[in-house]
Amino acid sequence: MDVLVSLCKRRGFIFQSSEIYGGTGAAWDYGPLGVELKNNIKRAWWRDNIHLRPDMVGLDASILMHPQVWKASGHLDHFTDPMVDCKACQHRFRADKVEEQSWIHYCPATKGNKFEVPAGEPCKHCNVRRSLCPDCGKGELTTPRQFNLMFKTFMGPVEEDAAVTYLRPETAQGIFVNFDNVLQSMRLKLPFGIAQIGKAFRNEITPGNFIFRTREFEQMEIEFFVNPLETIDGRPADEVWHERWIESRFAWYQRYGMRRENLRIREHEKDELAHYAKRTVDIEYQFPIGWSELEGVANRTDFDLKQHAQFSGKSLTYFDEERKQHVVPYVIEPSAGADRSLLAFLADAYREEEVRGERRVVLRFHPDLAPVKIAVLPLLKKRPEIVTTAHDLRATLARRWVTVYDDTAAIGRLYRRQDEVGTPYCVTVDVQTVGDSAKGEPGDRCVTIRERDSMEQIRVPIAELQGIFERLLGDGAWADVARSYPPARG
Ligand code: GLY
Repeated sequence: MDVLVSLCKRRGFIFQSSEIYGGTGAAWDYGPLGVELKNNIKRAWWRDNIHLRPDMVGLDASILMHPQVWKASGHLDHFTDPMVDCKACQHRFRADKVEEQSWIHYCPATKGNKFEVPAGEPCKHCNVRRSLCPDCGKGELTTPRQFNLMFKTFMGPVEEDAAVTYLRPETAQGIFVNFDNVLQSMRLKLPFGIAQIGKAFRNEITPGNFIFRTREFEQMEIEFFVNPLETIDGRPADEVWHERWIESRFAWYQRYGMRRENLRIREHEKDELAHYAKRTVDIEYQFPIGWSELEGVANRTDFDLKQHAQFSGKSLTYFDEERKQHVVPYVIEPSAGADRSLLAFLADAYREEEVRGERRVVLRFHPDLAPVKIAVLPLLKKRPEIVTTAHDLRATLARRWVTVYDDTAAIGRLYRRQDEVGTPYCVTVDVQTVGDSAKGEPGDRCVTIRERDSMEQIRVPIAELQGIFERLLGDGAWADVARSYPPARG
């Protein structure tokens, strides 16, 4: 993880929030390359789950909602973690996680010497187990109290109870409260889904592990509404759709290059199910911190629509024409984290390789996700014709793809820099391209394209560059394109 954090800072992917003031707890800012990468992930998710499906529509609901939403959803009463406080140093811990960290111990068997004992283990000198604060080793811990994870704020200028509202802890509720608006305005028929990407906020007691758990984060959520009276092959439709969505979402990560062996499915135990869920499955990724949740796919039943109908007094039903009755749809919810997805794609793409005795760091991003698609590099920056041609090429290609120009180092180093941020293609303009007008030598008007993963190079006419990239950055494979052009010297 440290390697990724350092790469992200050095190459402009992710910075610590408010760093010049010492940083804030577990908040991160996406830099120039990070924002491109995150936008690409969100765009791919939106295209695949909304634009390419006939049964999905999108939504962008507000972050601040009526406070009753959170009463109805159960978040005010149930969205809590048990926490304990140290009476001496006032540090706060999740009661169910306190055994998962190493603990400070002043050991009576060794004249009170201070030791850090590994998580869950007794002291190897006195065999005592942790009973005091793991951080200071001195204070007693309070008995557990429930701590609500929602951020509270005030709507309007008056800080009074009547004005209290919350930053949404999930985007899902914006979809549920708009169920009837979307159903009526779009004339939808079950089954259909509503998708949304947006920020959510949770006042986590123990955030951490870089962008894995932060207090402000971005969700990519789908609420897929199913007729509870329907069956598919003799099975309840909600259960079948739940399985379809698990499969579809599991395949999605692989479609953008995540390795199968780093993904797995984990079924939630009964006692860990959220208050609204009948069944939940996590898609887990093998992060640098170990196997952890990347996306949850839950069957929320009719819980949310029924709650909102009851609390708002508005009917939130669907009229089943065939059966001539109103039904409250069941909901399948694939809920992914944009930040977690980014971390997983980043970790999966990261490789350290040895090339001709030198270490090369490369991010093997899928081209759709790569922050920069093409880098145009002049071989010699002292030759004005080379530089001008390279600038012109960048300007032309940039109309269609994110393209950068760089002349701040020798070509070998420029390639390495692009490898390290995952740019799939470099285009090099050299002496042969432009020729030498003083000697009356015309250029060949060809450039070199270098592919990131194989490091192979081909020589192609500038006139064909646009068409070649249409293929390479569309559905075309490098090997198929490369075979039509002569190799260039590496
Ligand atoms: N909407 C599910 C979640 O935020 O965890």
